Amino acid sequence: MTDTAPSARPPGFGSDNVAGISPAILKALAATNEGAMPSYGADEVSTRVEARLSALFEREVSVLLVSTGTAANALALSVLTPPWGAVLCHADSHIENDECGAPEFFTGGAKLVHVPGAGAKIDPAALGEAARRNRGDVHCVQPSCVSITQASELGTLYSLEETAAIGTVCRDAGLPLHMDGSRFANAVAALGASPAEMTWKAGVDILSFGATKNGAMGVEAIVLFDPARAGELAFRRKRGGHLSSKMRFLAAQMDAYLADDLWLTNARHANAMAARLRDGLDGMAGVEIQGVIEANMLFARLPAPMCEGLLAQGFRFYTERWGEGVVRLVTSFATAEADVDRLIGAARALA
Ligand SMILES: Cc1ncc(COP(=O)(O)O)c(C=O)c1O
Repeated sequence: MTDTAPSARPPGFGSDNVAGISPAILKALAATNEGAMPSYGADEVSTRVEARLSALFEREVSVLLVSTGTAANALALSVLTPPWGAVLCHADSHIENDECGAPEFFTGGAKLVHVPGAGAKIDPAALGEAARRNRGDVHCVQPSCVSITQASELGTLYSLEETAAIGTVCRDAGLPLHMDGSRFANAVAALGASPAEMTWKAGVDILSFGATKNGAMGVEAIVLFDPARAGELAFRRKRGGHLSSKMRFLAAQMDAYLADDLWLTNARHANAMAARLRDGLDGMAGVEIQGVIEANMLFARLPAPMCEGLLAQGFRFYTERWGEGVVRLVTSFATAEADVDRLIGAARALA
């Protein structure tokens, strides 16, 4: 069951983190509040989370919980690159545009180097070239790791074949592969593939496994498919100020998120609401849907009076980054069908 009651507040389509907390996660937080438990991750809930993620990914993984996606990405990259390294990523990636230099800071100065590709996805052939560039030249940063985003910042998905193609380039070039999975759940729900197939079986070494955008209050798991890096990462997490002393509350969120497939139920619902939005807006006078809707994000060019009218009525969404008249609408586990229908109805009245 997802929380789909329409909100009394104007429905927010700005991002999936404008939503509240999944009721099951809120309940788990209250239950975990009972009594004392060891601090800094030595609690039984943290142990259970690692076991749950090992089962989910069908192999033994090491897990470090942090409270933001930026920390998950930046810390993950910090164990994959030396300070003189080049982190190969897409120009539209969150690590490039929205993390205030945290990856550069946590890696001690590694440089983010762009690799082109359509739909905010890295092109494997271009990656091959970037991976060979300036090798051994002491004047240049050295290709050291690769980071891809699943689902991407444009809501697109790497198919299994596309992830594997990137994984193959990385393996051949000796570069470890990081996946920013802030919306990994939406990608799994849309592709219907197993988490293992979408990650380590395709060559991913470290995953930032998101939960905050999909029902948690604030927790992300850094999942290491090679536990050998976990020791170093533990020190880096502490040094970076992300070893939570009351870790049981981060763990409780992740535990409830994984229990009974809540993560998948929530993501399926969010994706379905984006599809409902597309169906309602598609074909409306003056509206141009951009690309294919693969997960829980929709981009559309709206006529200016429609865009302004919706904003004036209290609907919330971003308007500026994606070209003249293009807006981004994001759905979440908490988006009610009635919220979607309200927006469609209001747009129709303004068309
Ligand atoms: C692709 C992607 N990665 C990571 C994040 C995590 O960011 P934050 O540090 O705000 O939790 C976001 C949030 O917008 C995102 O869209």
